[in-house]
Amino acid sequence: MKLALIVAFDQNFGIGKDNDLMWHLPHDMAFFKETTKDQIVVMGRKNFESIPPKFRPLPHRENVIITRNKEFHTPSCLVFNDLQKAISHFQNDPRTLFIIGGGEIYSLAMKTLALDTLYITKVHHVFDADTFFPSFDENQWKIITLFEQPIDEKHSHGFTVYRYTK
Ligand SMILES: NC(=O)c1ccc[n+]([C@@H]2O[C@H](COP(=O)([O-])OP(=O)(O)OC[C@H]3O[C@@H](n4cnc5c(N)ncnc54)[C@H](OP(=O)(O)O)[C@@H]3O)[C@@H](O)[C@H]2O)c1
Repeated sequence: MKLALIVAFDQNFGIGKDNDLMWHLPHDMAFFKETTKDQIVVMGRKNFESIPPKFRPLPHRENVIITRNKEFHTPSCLVFNDLQKAISHFQNDPRTLFIIGGGEIYSLAMKTLALDTLYITKVHHVFDADTFFPSFDENQWKIITLFEQPIDEKHSHGFTVYRYTK
């Protein structure tokens, strides 16, 4: 199993507000879908609940939810009370396990996991966020630019997508 993380943040590391995303960027959404397709996605309970019910669980990927609530169950999702236990469960799985947020789960993952790859979308704007990606040392990573999306009729903000590897 490979361990990866995928996130989009703004120029202040902001990732969300009021348990929702702060932007509508179809090309970035398409990149997320294509990158995580057929893989395992691990998310915090709040992130899961922020996805509109008709779009969850996220189709064509194994959905894993992290919560402290031992009673939490939801159809077609695996639930763990501990991030490390979720990782151990998939240890021998050939798929990539993607940490997909939100803020608490990103912080826990950046602190405690040996991540192989980060896919980071940097949105070229500062939003009024209430949830943030943790700051980290970019010098520990090799960074390549995957693509850049300028402002256009479908994108009110430009962004750049990077891949970080060790
Ligand atoms: N821009 C992006 O790329 C991106 C991606 C994903 C999400 N988001 C945004 O992020 C925000 C949500 O993030 P968030 O930080 O509020 O919540 P979150 O990380 O999605 O979920 C937090 C929940 O995870 C569980 N949890 C946290 N630490 C745990 C631990 N050590 N052990 C077991 N369970 C644990 C708890 O669930 P219980 O309370 O059930 O115990 C906690 O309430 C939303 O605004 C969303 O739109 C942005």
